[in-house]
Amino acid sequence: VDAPYVEIFEMGPRDGLQNEKRLIPAAEKIALVDLLSRAGFRRIEVTSFVPPKWVPQMADAAEVMAGITRRHGLRYAVLTPNLRGYEAAKAAGADEVAIFASASEGFSRANLNAGIDESLARFAEVAEAAKADGVPVRGYVSVVTDCPFDGPTPPASVARVAARLRDMGCYEVSLGDTIGQGRPETIDAMLTAVLGELPPERLAGHYHDTVGRALANIDASLARGLRVFDAAVGGLGGCPYAPGAAGNVATEAVAAHLASAGYRTGLDASVLEEAAAMTRHMRETRDV
Ligand code: HMG
Ligand code: MG
Repeated sequence: VDAPYVEIFEMGPRDGLQNEKRLIPAAEKIALVDLLSRAGFRRIEVTSFVPPKWVPQMADAAEVMAGITRRHGLRYAVLTPNLRGYEAAKAAGADEVAIFASASEGFSRANLNAGIDESLARFAEVAEAAKADGVPVRGYVSVVTDCPFDGPTPPASVARVAARLRDMGCYEVSLGDTIGQGRPETIDAMLTAVLGELPPERLAGHYHDTVGRALANIDASLARGLRVFDAAVGGLGGCPYAPGAAGNVATEAVAAHLASAGYRTGLDASVLEEAAAMTRHMRETRDV
């Protein structure tokens, strides 16, 4: 009998690199995406079409999208904060786009320069345009357990925003522990609320590994039926608008953890190791 499949959605080129201080040349990002394309992922988040003055590292989004060698059957995803970003993503040939709301007002203002409801109205425009074009939309909810500005996040706030994203047509909602302060118990309480709105097949866990609890939080989520987890090769990253956010949990660590728990990810460990080494090199050569 085949081991049950769990998908890892690779975030390194976007969530990972967006927080690096050294402006990494597009060619290096393209080489990383091309290497990751050989690892066995179904989806890779490549970049984001956001204002360069907000996230300078993603200013080369169109160049990176144009430079990668696309592998058949793999979806190359990007973040789109508004219609302008969506149009640019479409022109770049993104296979899917993501909209990203917050469960707290404080993080929404810091990350999106708008309160939750205002940001959702903007995202609804993106979702509508994407629907008309037949482009799949993924939704994120950030700060699902703890917010660096507002403190602990009520589970009901996460469920409310997740339901709004579902209503806009998001095929999946990814739950972000943006600053990695969640614990198995707070993740479980949050999931109890969210599962009242969406079935586990439409949810993903997106856990940052700030204090080393991401794998335990993944286990808590597996127990609730989630089977998709976001991770970044080499544990790259952080969030420029979330003080204290460390990288996403490392893809190679999640893959090894899942394998030892009897799950199949379809990922090639040697390609992941090569990609992790590439990210270490990218960080060592940073000039800050
Ligand atoms: P704003 O400054 O309020 O927007 O930002 P604006 O409409 O006033 O535009 C400001 C300037 O940007 C204008 O230019 C626009 O033309 C331009 P100016 O007139 O000043 O020269 N502009 C654009 N340029 C390029 N592409 C665009 C675009 N839109 C406007 N798409 C906005 C509002 C939402 C745009 C901004 O706040 C934003 O993009 N925020 C996103 C920041 C970000 O990328 N954060 C990191 C990703 S989220 C994350 O990491 C969390 C996640 O991983 C999950 C988790 O861990 O929880 C997903
Ligand atoms: Mg993140």
